[in-house]
Amino acid sequence: MCGIVAAVAARNIVPVLIEGLMKLEYRGYDSAGLALLNPTLTRLRSVGRVAELAEQAEGQVAHHGIAHTRWATHGVPSERNAHPHVSAGVAVVHNGIIENYAELKQELTADGYVFTSDTDTEVIAHLIRQTLKSTPDLFEAVRLATARLVGAYAIAVLQEWDDRIVLARHGAPLLLGLGEDGNYAASDASALLQVTRRMIYLEDGDVAELRRDGVRIVGADGTAANVPADRPVHESTLSADDVELGDYTHYMQKEIFEQPQALAATLEMIGGAQTLSPNLFGVAAPEMLAGASSVLILACGTSYHSGLVARYWIEQLAGIPCSVEIASEYRYRVSVPDPEQLVVAISQSGETADTLASVKHARALGMGRTLAICNVAESAIVRECALRFLTRAGPEIGVASTKAFTTQLAALFLLAVTLAKQAGRLTPEQEAGYLTALRHLPVAVQKVLALEPAIKVWAKRFADKQHALFLGRGHHYPIALEGALKLKEISYIHAEGYPAGELKHGPLALVDEDMPVISIAPNDALLEKLKSNLKEVAARGGELYVFADADSAVDEEPGVHVLRLPEHYGLLSPVLHVVPLQLLSYHVALVKGTDVDKPRNLAKSVTVE
Ligand code: G6P
Repeated sequence: MCGIVAAVAARNIVPVLIEGLMKLEYRGYDSAGLALLNPTLTRLRSVGRVAELAEQAEGQVAHHGIAHTRWATHGVPSERNAHPHVSAGVAVVHNGIIENYAELKQELTADGYVFTSDTDTEVIAHLIRQTLKSTPDLFEAVRLATARLVGAYAIAVLQEWDDRIVLARHGAPLLLGLGEDGNYAASDASALLQVTRRMIYLEDGDVAELRRDGVRIVGADGTAANVPADRPVHESTLSADDVELGDYTHYMQKEIFEQPQALAATLEMIGGAQTLSPNLFGVAAPEMLAGASSVLILACGTSYHSGLVARYWIEQLAGIPCSVEIASEYRYRVSVPDPEQLVVAISQSGETADTLASVKHARALGMGRTLAICNVAESAIVRECALRFLTRAGPEIGVASTKAFTTQLAALFLLAVTLAKQAGRLTPEQEAGYLTALRHLPVAVQKVLALEPAIKVWAKRFADKQHALFLGRGHHYPIALEGALKLKEISYIHAEGYPAGELKHGPLALVDEDMPVISIAPNDALLEKLKSNLKEVAARGGELYVFADADSAVDEEPGVHVLRLPEHYGLLSPVLHVVPLQLLSYHVALVKGTDVDKPRNLAKSVTVE
């Protein structure tokens, strides 16, 4: 979603802003813009790629500037709706949604302010200008103006003839970068690695000021926050390579092939251990996990699917009831709170607005046992939860999540085994066996990746299809959902994931020769039942594409194509079976020529509800 970059520095900051926006492209956007101070305002905006904005900005030199990639919410993608929005000499870029913008707009219009866009953001620009009339200091004016906003925002503001940039954060990510020759801000660290590794994460309610020679932060309570006492400076450990494409064509491809390393890094903390310590999840974990009566998992998108797999593991291994809920549903429904329940929020980014709000909602209902499973340290969701487990997938840039998903699964399996151990349901041999299986995962995934050439051949047959059906049973049912999500996200083929046992209750009506049916057929207790389901498809003329295990005994025949994964992997099999589905959607998208890493209408980091 929207990305922000801001810079005040001795160097020419125009290339920094452009490079920063390019690093934020992965978040998803449809237009881009920037405002430079020289000391009067120059605004450049364009619909489409940052590269077009870069062309417009060629030859510009400035030492103060703010820049933005916009993902449309209020108003169509167009130049007039692109940020920055300007009110006289005040320019604003914004990530988030202002919920009371309509009433503010009415008030400002009555006061004579003229709106030139359909955005909610423009009210912020006018509101700051109006406030400046009575409070001529930009920092104070931003504090007063933002106090009137309802909703989520991260903003960067500059004003003609003022040598500062003022920032404010409430419910959308924003961090400061402390440089040698100036100071910077951005929506995430990847945009600022070009100039500094020293970052300060702003908190909700913070208003901050960037000057060439320093920064100032005032917290929600109005008192100055000291750097680094109240807002510690973090040294980013991201390397430039982590966010570069290297020899790959697409980030999604790179991230699929990085899964062995991502899993190994995530599992590094268990080393060669034969037993698991609950402390993996935080210092308070032994007590919090031991007393948990049940588990409630909250997440969105692909992270939700990892939660669905975890439900099978947690109930089977730990014998504790587990429910999984889409965060945007949970936060608005009337539910029955259980203070002893463990609430697990799963999120790659740690910034997904609905997931964050759902944890806050659970806490407001009295549920204090909260655990974040997240790929981004210092993200809002991690900070909101009492316990944390950080997956170490490295930055995930492709909108369609891959390595974040498999590392989430590894983390959730560790959680299930830990809960089982605390419930006294594991023998030491079983515990050691699960740890060995986890440690072997990177090698096992590497072998599955070797199926790519055969999957490429299959992909060609999907490119002219309008629909596809994914089937799985048991803990592979969520993998069918995830396979369908991957395909629809990046190839725009309508795809549904179904538990194979439900075929007869509806989807069988859709099956014909134009509807490929992809089935996950591991050699587990449900294999025979699944084979009967597949016969039902074959009998209706459906073309079957089956991902089996080496010993699954599903044979090729006319209309039935089979690819075998090298080994059956027991409870951890979902981690392996999702990999060929990721490859399949990637190659179908390549054949179709869609924008793999930035599929239309989608955003990587969904910071608005
Ligand atoms: C967006 C992304 C998905 C992701 C979902 C949840 O829809 O495109 O890839 O699964 O958000 O994001 P999170 O960061 O919370 O895992």
